Amino acid sequence: MIISNDIKYVGVNDRKLDMFEGQYKIPNGISYNSYVIMDEKIAVMDTVDAGFAEEWLYNLERVLGDRKPDYLVVHHMEPDHSANIMAFISRYPDVKIVASSKAFIIAKNFFGTDFSERRIIVNEGDVLSLGRHELQFINAPMVHWPEVIMTYDRLSKAIFTADAFGKFGTLDIDDDWAEEARRYYIGIVGKYGVQVQNVLKKISALDVHMICPLHGPVLSENLSYYLGLYDTWSSYRPENDAVLIAYTSIYGNTKKAVEKLEEGLKAKGEKVHTVDLARCDMFKAVSDAFRYSKLVLATTTYNGDIFPFMREYIEHLKERNFSNRSIGFIENGSWAPVAGKIMKTMLEKSKQLRYYENEVKIFSALGEENLAQIEALANEICAE
Ligand code: FEO
Repeated sequence: MIISNDIKYVGVNDRKLDMFEGQYKIPNGISYNSYVIMDEKIAVMDTVDAGFAEEWLYNLERVLGDRKPDYLVVHHMEPDHSANIMAFISRYPDVKIVASSKAFIIAKNFFGTDFSERRIIVNEGDVLSLGRHELQFINAPMVHWPEVIMTYDRLSKAIFTADAFGKFGTLDIDDDWAEEARRYYIGIVGKYGVQVQNVLKKISALDVHMICPLHGPVLSENLSYYLGLYDTWSSYRPENDAVLIAYTSIYGNTKKAVEKLEEGLKAKGEKVHTVDLARCDMFKAVSDAFRYSKLVLATTTYNGDIFPFMREYIEHLKERNFSNRSIGFIENGSWAPVAGKIMKTMLEKSKQLRYYENEVKIFSALGEENLAQIEALANEICAE
């Protein structure tokens, strides 16, 4: 992939990994992006995952020809981008490493060296000139690690954004950017909305023509769309006005209540998406809770607690600062139902949650009173 006359792509596609960061399913793989800026001096932007050293070094050699790189800019120390720093130094022993001070501390933990003989520490606003290209560094702490920096190239107006604006999926698939970028963002960066907002403010002060993330495609058109989605996601605003019903069901009785609610909401013109937490992609369901404005949680009492998939789901929501949504509850229990109470207790520290007054309380199987409760809940949701 050629990004511009001077900026070349040297990243790789990983189609073998089943779960990214050990928990996110990636049926369409993922790319580890790396770029080279060719000028009087040459800068390589990040390395790639450990399993792709040879492919990446080969890509680099093809772009460099007879030349040698001068700098390796390390935007982020997570191993999917930093694992090949030592292999790179072995191949190009004169190279300098450019990164934040925190990155060199983390490097010492990973590699046993802080590269003191070859390091260039950069901070907010520092500029590294390659000749015509001037690289301006931007601190982006906790997006999503503490040492993260971004780089703005004043000549091409490209910004290298580390994991921000990244997505799951290799570069050779044609899919909807927002779906997999949302699942990536909410899952991996979602906890750090405040920090993302801070860096978006810095980006808005720059004239940006191209976004070069560490995963997924380079973005060069309609940038306001991508920046707008990041603003929505990082400020915890719903993206769409719709209801997500997330449920678990053991013998199908809770599911029947969910189906009745779904039916009732749709009949009233509401947009509804329903997920069975035991069977769906858990992190797609997590990202959808952030996507939509309203959430209904339906589960059973189980071992004096709630059904494990629902517990896991709510923990994932809390971990990512789930807030600013309307929530309804459906609970089921055969002899001592506590699921509704436990779900609410789990969410009590979450900010700006509005609870629907009408709740559905099932004792084993749906009764007449439950149908009335479901109708009342549907009416309340639609009236909002
Ligand atoms: Fe793609 Fe946070 O590493």
